[in-house]
Amino acid sequence: MRIPMIAGNWKMNTTVAEAAALVKEMRPELDRIDNVDKVICPPFVSLAAAKELLKGSSVKLGAQNLYFEEKGAYTGEISPLMLAELCQLVIIGHSERRQYFHETAELVDKKVQAALKVGLKPILCVGETPRENEAGKTEEVLSRQLSLTSKQAYHTGLVLAYEPIWAIGTGKAATGEQANQTIGFIRRHIAKQHGQEIAQSVRILYGGSVTADNIAEFIKQPEIDGALVGGASLKTSQFLSIVKQTSEIKRVK
Ligand code: PGA
Repeated sequence: MRIPMIAGNWKMNTTVAEAAALVKEMRPELDRIDNVDKVICPPFVSLAAAKELLKGSSVKLGAQNLYFEEKGAYTGEISPLMLAELCQLVIIGHSERRQYFHETAELVDKKVQAALKVGLKPILCVGETPRENEAGKTEEVLSRQLSLTSKQAYHTGLVLAYEPIWAIGTGKAATGEQANQTIGFIRRHIAKQHGQEIAQSVRILYGGSVTADNIAEFIKQPEIDGALVGGASLKTSQFLSIVKQTSEIKRVK
């Protein structure tokens, strides 16, 4: 049984005061919803405040990135050890980081390993560009992006997020069927790499223009275990509805 997960990626939005207000607003309702792992990922600077506000809550906190070294002369970077004190999860390899900050597959894998070493659960993002998609290279790109992820990482509870880059922040989400097909491919690929048991236990989320209006279409699909939500995770009513629908649709009858 894979427990569904909805993770809100706040990206570079909200001041500390705004983040605190949003956490306060969302917490009571989120706490009432079971059968879903609920995660919010505010900017680094708001993690400490969010942690305080989430004391005793079932809502988990995640960071949006980290550096792989534990400490030292890396001006401006944030280490896994620092984050382990503040949150339980960390988004790694988001396409915005791969694109704008030139993160390579090797760097992404180092970050995954560094996170696992301190007990942080990575949400590893993979996905193809529009051009790769049009050229029919989606499966090839995903296989390459997954090639470095170790069996150990899956064993430790790594979560995958399939986010086609053409669907992120564009309002042009994939269809449920498209996403289900591609995530099915990812699962078969992992089965070949690491065996059926790992492939069947890893949670794979869909991400890209998920809203309260289209979440059901994704969540109904058997291969899709939840969503990584950007824009809609900053709006309380949208995010709550996404989490609620997920809880209901994935409930084993
Ligand atoms: P979006 O972002 O929901 O705003 O498209 C998703 C993501 O980048 O994680």
